[in-house]
Amino acid sequence: MSFKFNILTNIFFILIIILFPLFSVILNLNYFIVVIIPYVSIIMFICGIIYRTLSWGESAVPFRIPSTCGQQKSLSWIKYNRLESPFTKRDVFWRMFLEILLFRSLFRNSRMHFYKDRPKVAYFSSKWLWLFAIAFHYSFLIVLIRHLRFFTVPVPSFTHFIEKVDGFFEVGMPVMYLSGVILLVSVLMLLFRRIIIDRLRYISLPADYFPLFLILTIASTGIIMRYFYRIDVVSVKELTMGLVTFNPILLKEPINILFYIHLFSVCVLFAYLPYSKMVHLVGILFSPTRNLPNNSRAIRHINPWNPIVKVHTYEEYEEEFRDKMKKVGLPLEKEK
Ligand code: HEM
Repeated sequence: MSFKFNILTNIFFILIIILFPLFSVILNLNYFIVVIIPYVSIIMFICGIIYRTLSWGESAVPFRIPSTCGQQKSLSWIKYNRLESPFTKRDVFWRMFLEILLFRSLFRNSRMHFYKDRPKVAYFSSKWLWLFAIAFHYSFLIVLIRHLRFFTVPVPSFTHFIEKVDGFFEVGMPVMYLSGVILLVSVLMLLFRRIIIDRLRYISLPADYFPLFLILTIASTGIIMRYFYRIDVVSVKELTMGLVTFNPILLKEPINILFYIHLFSVCVLFAYLPYSKMVHLVGILFSPTRNLPNNSRAIRHINPWNPIVKVHTYEEYEEEFRDKMKKVGLPLEKEK
């Protein structure tokens, strides 16, 4: 698919995501946009995650296929690499732990350079992707934790703590949260990376851009609401508390349209997440290249899905045809 098509499709979808709440407010469909849509999106999110998890759980993993790049455990006097070639479940746990929290395999990301003036190819370490990915995921997490203040009474103390650390620099009024800005910048960098690097642009599909465009919409509307075009946060809290206590209320005065766009984009994100590539959030735990110990030299793994086959051993065969074999002079293993 051409790059133009990818970008235009995404712009089209983002326009729909912006116009949908706008028209809903104009047509006085407030209840639909602030109550029905959030509940539907959460139901789609939960059902989708359960469905994906069950289908992964049911998939056959008949072979040991951990991806390894270190010394495998063999003889006792050869030191093996616990993280690169895990042998026990504990090794696997640490490997997964570092993968999930620090994106360890992405840290090894390399870049190929082709020298045009001579027939030579070289590989260089490339940490940019790792850096943007870490910045993006952690800032997203922190923003989500901070948003708990809209959904909880009393607000948990760790949320206050994170707010304090995040607004440490005390820049601006209201105080600027670093995580919101880092989220916006890192999504932009991930998007530019996909657009600027030609081989990446070539293999990208509309579905590769969509999560980035969507999160960009969420982060930018959030930032505008907080720093440039203040909204009534008390009304937002009334609304969100109504939703979480299953006692939805309709505000007499509608909140700023930016809030509706922000909320609707978040709903689209949650509803879409289980069916998109973003589901790697859960999928990582089910990845057999990561979650299996590399112990096939020590343990024989029998495929549990092997059908029961009725075997006919040579011994039984000889027993069955003994007389006939003897008659034509074929050698027998066991003379009776
Ligand atoms: C994927 C989920 C979400 C993301 C990534 C997100 C992101 C953001 C960001 C980056 C900001 C800018 C200020 C900051 O850094 O905190 C923001 C502000 C805001 N968000 Fe969200 N948001 C999400 C979900 C929600 C939900 C579900 C609601 C409410 C129902 C909400 C309501 C608001 C409001 C009211 C503000 C303005 C806050 C203020 O004025 O202090 N957000 N959001």
